[in-house]
Amino acid sequence: MPTSTEETLSSSQVKELTASLTYGTWRRQKGWTPLVIVDAEDCYFTDDQGKRYLDFSAQLMCVTLGHKNRAVVQAIEEQARKLAFIGPGFATEVRAELAKLLTEVLPQGLSKFFFTTSGTEANEAAFKIARMATGKTKIISRYRSYHGSTMGSIAATGDPRRWAMEPAGKVPGVIFAPEVNCYKCPIGHTYPGCGIACVEYIDHMIRNESDVAAVIVEPVVGTNGVLVPPPEYMPRLRAICDAHGVLLIADEVMAGWCRTGKWFAMDNWSVVPDILTTAKGITNAAIPLGLCATTAKVASYFDEHFFSHGHTYEAHPLTLAPAIASINEMKRLKLADRAAKLGSYMAKKLNELKPKHVSIGEVRGIGLFWAVELVKNQASKEPFNTGTDKISGKPLLVDRVAARMMANGVYLQAWMSHLVIAPPLIISEQEIDRGVAALDEALSIADAEVGK
Ligand SMILES: Cc1ncc(COP(=O)(O)O)c(C=O)c1O
Repeated sequence: MPTSTEETLSSSQVKELTASLTYGTWRRQKGWTPLVIVDAEDCYFTDDQGKRYLDFSAQLMCVTLGHKNRAVVQAIEEQARKLAFIGPGFATEVRAELAKLLTEVLPQGLSKFFFTTSGTEANEAAFKIARMATGKTKIISRYRSYHGSTMGSIAATGDPRRWAMEPAGKVPGVIFAPEVNCYKCPIGHTYPGCGIACVEYIDHMIRNESDVAAVIVEPVVGTNGVLVPPPEYMPRLRAICDAHGVLLIADEVMAGWCRTGKWFAMDNWSVVPDILTTAKGITNAAIPLGLCATTAKVASYFDEHFFSHGHTYEAHPLTLAPAIASINEMKRLKLADRAAKLGSYMAKKLNELKPKHVSIGEVRGIGLFWAVELVKNQASKEPFNTGTDKISGKPLLVDRVAARMMANGVYLQAWMSHLVIAPPLIISEQEIDRGVAALDEALSIADAEVGK
């Protein structure tokens, strides 16, 4: 009697069946030849040929504690035996315990929680809650952003993944503000000395739009380039939202859970949002879980009004147990401090690459969350590829760089014209050296394209 897929299917069958019977996400299906992965542990994963890869992006910036964290695995096993599922209308020990823990680690003031099974759904919940609680409709998002794949969250996504669902993701009421990007300011300013014109523009939008329920931001923009706002940005955005009675939603799906050197990115500026959404690292990505956390003030609206939202899997016990284990592991390993400390090391190593490579436009980041932006021309800052190239299926230069790194045993996320470096926070300095060395070597591909 076969006991596992590996015994019943050959590697080439696994690859072929995966590619022909299931969708590859965010890509044309033709030409998809996914690598077969058989194992993953700590900062590494292993393919069907036994080759080990250093996971320099923690998969989709989500395996914060490293693969197969023992405490998380154990929590899943125990909860599966104890109570795998009971409907969201019931109280459970695991739900109560996680809620209590969340009040300790989230920015103070976020005290009522709705659990989902993805970051996307957490943002959907945030939009519905914001609309219901304020009685207003519009959501302001920013162009360089990703907030999820369903109709509402893709409508609020600024990057080209939205285009297939235009107009406006078929969900009315989302409008876009310029992103904060001090390397390449979308409105042509130079920091410092710009008065943070991009955040003042949001004030201008709210004054002129009316009916704005919320502003959603990734406090540190993730996939779209690890854009870290200047220190004045977030406190000013908080003040603008307060002045207009608009809710501030912080999408910390990627930036949360110690990645930036604090429990949550908003903690870097001591700003508390009205709603914080997160997912990914909450369970070390071992089980799908998302969270929409609201303040008591937002929550109080629903004391006397119908909370018109829910899922069969809301507060699913099996999803909650690994979150408790993950948070306890993050505390035990002091991961926020570790990310801050190793972040300085990573910054030094990545910045050393800059003078060596004519293709590097900027190195930027915070904690263990970094981007290396590649440009055809350092003076004009022209990227190698654009969103239009990505959607049209044109081969991207960053994908060639990432492929060379894979050949050298290091996995790295590539997007448009930059690379995102966000390893598990348990990574060592030696492993950082190895990842950066692989990047150093692979960047020769990009250097060779400069000036062409
Ligand atoms: C900032 C941000 N928000 C939302 C999402 C969507 O989360 P999920 O893929 O879990 O639905 C992502 C996913 O990458 C993200 O990075």
